[in-house]
Amino acid sequence: MHHFHYIQNRLHCEAVPVADIALDVGTPLYLYSHATLERHFKAFQNAFAAVKPLVCYSAKANSSQAILTLFRQWGGGLDIVSGGELFRGLKAGFISQKVVYSGVGKRADEIDAAISHGILAFNIESMEELNLINARAGELKRRARAAIRVNPDVDPKTHPYISTGLKKTKFGIDIATAVEGYRAAQQMANIEIVGVDCHLGSQITTLEPFEQALAGLKQLVTELRHIGISLQHLDVGGGLGITYKDETPPGIEAYARAVTKVVQETGLQLILEPGRAIVGNAAILVTKVLYRKQTGEKQFVIVDAGMNDLMRPALYKAYHAIEPVEKQSRATIVADVVGPICESSDFLAQDRSMVDVLPGELLAVMGAGAYGFVMSSNYCSRIRAAEVLVKEDRFDLIRQRENLEDLVRGELVPAWVLKAANHMGRQ
Ligand code: LLP
Repeated sequence: MHHFHYIQNRLHCEAVPVADIALDVGTPLYLYSHATLERHFKAFQNAFAAVKPLVCYSAKANSSQAILTLFRQWGGGLDIVSGGELFRGLKAGFISQKVVYSGVGKRADEIDAAISHGILAFNIESMEELNLINARAGELKRRARAAIRVNPDVDPKTHPYISTGLKKTKFGIDIATAVEGYRAAQQMANIEIVGVDCHLGSQITTLEPFEQALAGLKQLVTELRHIGISLQHLDVGGGLGITYKDETPPGIEAYARAVTKVVQETGLQLILEPGRAIVGNAAILVTKVLYRKQTGEKQFVIVDAGMNDLMRPALYKAYHAIEPVEKQSRATIVADVVGPICESSDFLAQDRSMVDVLPGELLAVMGAGAYGFVMSSNYCSRIRAAEVLVKEDRFDLIRQRENLEDLVRGELVPAWVLKAANHMGRQ
């Protein structure tokens, strides 16, 4: 459920016509619905209300300052994977005691920052990392709170690039050896064991993998209790899928029932790390048609957003619905919707059946809120898009479109290179 809908054939975000915003701000443009963000965020809190969860929104899905500030306002915590995300989260006003930190490659300086701020928990991905955190905490004369991220070896049945809970992936500590990990952690002077964590993958569309993993976690918690290691929280990660095309992911209530049952049995505090399920359908990418082109083989709709703006189709062959911003009664065509970048992977849709569009008209790429802007780049020296937040009948710029100077910011030309070049230039 989102708040992008047609009124008299004009696509609106809440009460604002999308075309009006595009006219004002230009394209490409990421457009967010406040009502959708609020609805999805609160759906997590409400569905799990019985166990009073801490919803640690996964910053990697969309780390816009405005959006993070909204989640902070609604009582959220944050799941981070880098010092950069810690910086963003603190800047958006999150208290560090609501921050959990995952990721297999935490650097010492990032670890130091997180220890100094006293985050809620490090999600430990290897014993080597745990040793380093223990050492760094000792150095800083602090104790670091830690949960072991276990790898439950469960197939989440999603795209291989976004599966994380299988043994063959780089993530977590094998659940079979986790008890030993906890024993070792218990001996470490500067580590306080606070929980257990697990994340299976992303865009998961059935309950089964979650249920399997939860059963493993419950067993682990019981085993730990038997040997005198008691935990405070159970972090079940993120991963709940959304509908991009015809997927039928479990509803939040069904997901909550499965999780809540196990949480109640363990008596632990629940932490959730949802990303996509909250922000995925809360935004569209608005793009303008530049050209229509027909080759012997194919029809192309060439637009002003490329793989640098939305990478998911190029990287995962992900499907995003594409809708006209102003509906027209025209013939249906089958076309590739492509960007301006010099790569054949630069497509937003392939062989898509759609209503014909003309240059100058606008298209909306749906479901662009998660892993959209955050994965964008300056490839081909393209400036990154603007972002706008709509609330009812108002809209505000939440990120300025980059400008050409932004492209070279931080670049340095050594004086000797410049001198030699200028000298050559004079010849
Ligand atoms: N927690 C951890 C430890 C994670 O690694 C992730 C996502 C999440 C939570 C949030 O998962 P979500 O609820 O959003 O599924 N770029 C890919 C998705 C990568 C997901 C990485 N980890 C895509 O565009 O589909």
